[in-house]
Amino acid sequence: MNHDRSARLFDKAKELVAGGVSSQIRVAEPADVPLFFTHAKGSKMWDVDGNEYIDFIQGMGPNLFGHAPDFINKQVAADMEKGYVFSAQFEQELEVAELALSMIPMKDATVRFASSGTEIDQLLLRTMRGFTGRPKILKFEGHYHGWMDSVNWSVHPPLDQAGPDDAPVPVGESEGMDPASADGLVICQWNDVGFLEKAFADHQGEIAGVIMEPILANTNCIVPSPEFLEALQRLCKENGTLLAFDEVITGFRVARGGAQELLGITPDLATYAKSMAGGFPIAMIVGRREIMDLIGDGTVYHGGSFNSNVMSISATYASLKHIEERGDEFYDDLNGKGLRLMEGLRDVAKSLESDLHVQGVGSVFAISFTTKQEITNWRDHARNCDDSKYTRFAKEMLKQGIRLSSNGRIHLSSAHTDEDIDKTVAAAAVVLPTL
Ligand SMILES: Cc1ncc(COP(=O)(O)O)c(C=O)c1O
Repeated sequence: MNHDRSARLFDKAKELVAGGVSSQIRVAEPADVPLFFTHAKGSKMWDVDGNEYIDFIQGMGPNLFGHAPDFINKQVAADMEKGYVFSAQFEQELEVAELALSMIPMKDATVRFASSGTEIDQLLLRTMRGFTGRPKILKFEGHYHGWMDSVNWSVHPPLDQAGPDDAPVPVGESEGMDPASADGLVICQWNDVGFLEKAFADHQGEIAGVIMEPILANTNCIVPSPEFLEALQRLCKENGTLLAFDEVITGFRVARGGAQELLGITPDLATYAKSMAGGFPIAMIVGRREIMDLIGDGTVYHGGSFNSNVMSISATYASLKHIEERGDEFYDDLNGKGLRLMEGLRDVAKSLESDLHVQGVGSVFAISFTTKQEITNWRDHARNCDDSKYTRFAKEMLKQGIRLSSNGRIHLSSAHTDEDIDKTVAAAAVVLPTL
């Protein structure tokens, strides 16, 4: 597979754009060079050298309906005639809020819109501290909540820097972060009742809220154990601590009501972004009215010039209407495709005696290489998964026309076909013996 034109463009990009990319993860794309694309539609993408790929990155999650679905194109093209950014309200914003609230299980809730997952999680942290008057947020290793200094700690920390298992220390994900921002966090290992109990006991009266990915899409796509979820709810209640779900990946993807519907748990607050608008930039916080009223009266300040711009609201409207109209059949189909791909990969791995491992919930799942039956949190992943083998796998899959993310996370879209899935499984059967 030839990437000559991409290579030439990347050389030029490095002269013009820092590192040649606009988001750091794109450097790690599993190709010999970060690729340049001409266009994308549905489940497919085409690069500047004319290669076609079945895409399982799907914008790192936002393209729930595949690339550039016609129904979103049509809605946005019509609505953007009205103008782009009003810095004022318009009626469709309310229709979107109504649609979203009708799908999310939380009762007596209100919403606020922003433009990215990072921004909305920052608002979430501020709101939890503002409501409780407490200084600290409990954050788990392995969970990603955006690149702000306030929370970009201990996402995937090297274990030799991360402290003991029962007393993790914050590890910044970047140089240049405000060191004081670590003081606002209590870092804890996830999916383990004992560690959680200890964290609450060590910080009594200090923890404003817990933030977590309810299904850990950023590490092996782990579904937490029922015991952990039960303990989490109990400890939050006993300690007057708010529980917040970061549903930036899972929201509108794993079920109409997101992970809270799937797990049967209603948090105090939740954030949404990626899958809301089929690829347009928007984010939303949803929370109990009494908490959200603090944002409403300006006690907790929130702003943003691009919040609820016409195109993003229009795309969200089209997306949520589409989900509403297709009903359960939409999720049965989407998750069914994901489960079929997971099963296909498992079967190939078994027949080839490969340690390829899949874990997740269908429409989003993770591929890793491990002999363990199940990975339960970040340290478990770091100790037991062979990330360099996954990188080789993804590079070889790309040569077969299958575009996988650098971190192992697979995003299905409703545009993926049975043929796409069969081709992907067949490609894995070719690649695995070569690793
Ligand atoms: C769970 C989660 N929260 C927040 C974010 C940040 O979202 P954004 O990239 O839109 O800033 C991400 C991004 O990957 C995410 O996966």
